[in-house]
Amino acid sequence: MASKKNGPTIAIDGPAGSGKSTISKLLARHFGFKLVDTGAIYRSLALWALRRGLAPQESPELLALAESAKVDFAWDGEINRVFLNKEDVSAEIRTEEISAASSCFAALPMVRGALLARQRSLAEEGSVVLEGRDIGTVVYPDAEFKFFLEASPEVRAERRIKELKAKGLPADNVLADIIARDKRDRERAVAPLKAAEDAIIIDTSHMDITTVLNKMIGHITINMGG
Ligand code: DC
Repeated sequence: MASKKNGPTIAIDGPAGSGKSTISKLLARHFGFKLVDTGAIYRSLALWALRRGLAPQESPELLALAESAKVDFAWDGEINRVFLNKEDVSAEIRTEEISAASSCFAALPMVRGALLARQRSLAEEGSVVLEGRDIGTVVYPDAEFKFFLEASPEVRAERRIKELKAKGLPADNVLADIIARDKRDRERAVAPLKAAEDAIIIDTSHMDITTVLNKMIGHITINMGG
């Protein structure tokens, strides 16, 4: 296949808590690829909008932010740091408040449209892992490899509670929050969370990270053409 790309694009979609972030990171590091965490792009926009006092509804002010937001990624050892207009927002975008708000902003067609071109151009570069909700279906349906990770809401809540406790943070309403966010992400009109028809679906509920990772690495290596 003639292509100007410098390597394959790997799309990894799925809900929060499916193991997607951890696995995307390990996979990107295994192949020496760039990692584009598209959720962090929505989170950064939500952070910026909230700082400006904007509500999650379509407005000219929100469009201006979405069109001018510059979100970049850079490896810092094991950490894939996230920069919003050059400011390191890696920690600030991970609060529960931003988790909930980002899903509301991400439901707006205006926001999705404004953030699409940048994600697509990163996907077109190749040698990249993109993780999100709609990479295989909307952002880059031509991805050479598409995976959709899932796990039951109960297992995902347990994983999140463990993470919060390890950080000494309160872990209330986690299951209810996961169910509410899933519902918003799956039922929105534009680019809802769903597996592409040609995606490999992996249920990680009862699998450890290494097993999932090895399965994916095996599949990619065999099909990368040497
Ligand atoms: O993956 P995450 O939890 O960091 O994503 C934060 C929110 O952004 C999530 O609720 C859904 C939304 N999102 C999206 O709609 N499309 C993407 N490609 C990535 C994230």
